[in-house]
Amino acid sequence: MRVGILTGGGDCPGLNAAIRAVVRKGELVYGDELIGFHDAWDGVRERRFTELNVSSLRGMLPKGGTMLGTRRGSPYDRADGVQEVLATFKEMQLDALVVIGGNGSLSVACKLHAEHALPIVGVPKTIDNDVVGTDMTFGFNTAVQIATDAIDRLHTTAESHDRVMVVEVMGRHSGWIATYAGIAGGATAILIPEQPFDIEAVCAQLRSRHERGRYASIVVVAEGAEPLEGTMNRRDKVYDEFGHVRLGGVAETIANAIEQLTGFESRMVLLGHIQRGGTPTAFDRVLSTRYGVAAIDAVHVEAWGQMVVLRGGEIITAPLADTVGQTRPVDMHLYHEVAAVFFG
Ligand code: F6P
Repeated sequence: MRVGILTGGGDCPGLNAAIRAVVRKGELVYGDELIGFHDAWDGVRERRFTELNVSSLRGMLPKGGTMLGTRRGSPYDRADGVQEVLATFKEMQLDALVVIGGNGSLSVACKLHAEHALPIVGVPKTIDNDVVGTDMTFGFNTAVQIATDAIDRLHTTAESHDRVMVVEVMGRHSGWIATYAGIAGGATAILIPEQPFDIEAVCAQLRSRHERGRYASIVVVAEGAEPLEGTMNRRDKVYDEFGHVRLGGVAETIANAIEQLTGFESRMVLLGHIQRGGTPTAFDRVLSTRYGVAAIDAVHVEAWGQMVVLRGGEIITAPLADTVGQTRPVDMHLYHEVAAVFFG
């Protein structure tokens, strides 16, 4: 078969490992011809691609980012975008396309399959871990490890100065990174998009620590966290070219508010894209490899319109349609019954 691969949306650690797995099994087991499209759907529309084989993937397993490049945006955003994708399928005689992406890319994949019967298989990735239908996306474990390492370092400086450190992590719609890194890093409070926060309650937790002689605290906040209506001034929203709110900076507002309301010296740290960069953890290398192998197997049973997912430790396939238009919220039992035990 002639199988195309693209990586779309924000990059994350493990993308190269997933590409490598598709190529390895595709070439050596199935005798496929593999084509990597550059820059997500742009490369498909513009027929910018590279031939992939086992030797071209040498050394890619531990490398972060994506060797194919990635972009946000969709062929549906352009007047002739979808026609260009269809023309590429026809002229390049593509038998299948493996789309490795988050909610945006997987939705586009689903729509193209539903409307034009394109032979597409999806692979879920994102550090945010917010794809519905799978227990975990790859990239998430690495982001949590990076955030946890940062929090560990912040503890020692916070303790030396008796300060509150407000650490902002990624998580646009879901507080997965904040919750996991907050638990792993011993946070005093974890603020997530799923649960509007009350700054007074956060300050009460910090004061109660002070009363117990614990003068240093870590507050972990997901970039998408919002204050309870009417409790704090919200920042004006700024949008990027794809209409997504540009996030980042809520930690500064929170650190200032904490300092004002409690008098405790506070600092903020914004981890930003550091969480997406660099080498994947062993866990993410294994998960992305399993996904890649399963994706090329799915291609060979013609599981079109499906994505590979992790469920209870097993990799299976599930309809792309099940994930479209949704984001997977954090496990609120984990948040309330485990993380919250350590708040304050
Ligand atoms: O890929 C998901 C994500 O990392 C979100 O957590 C974050 O809000 C967003 O991407 C940042 O996007 P960009 O890289 O376009 O600034």
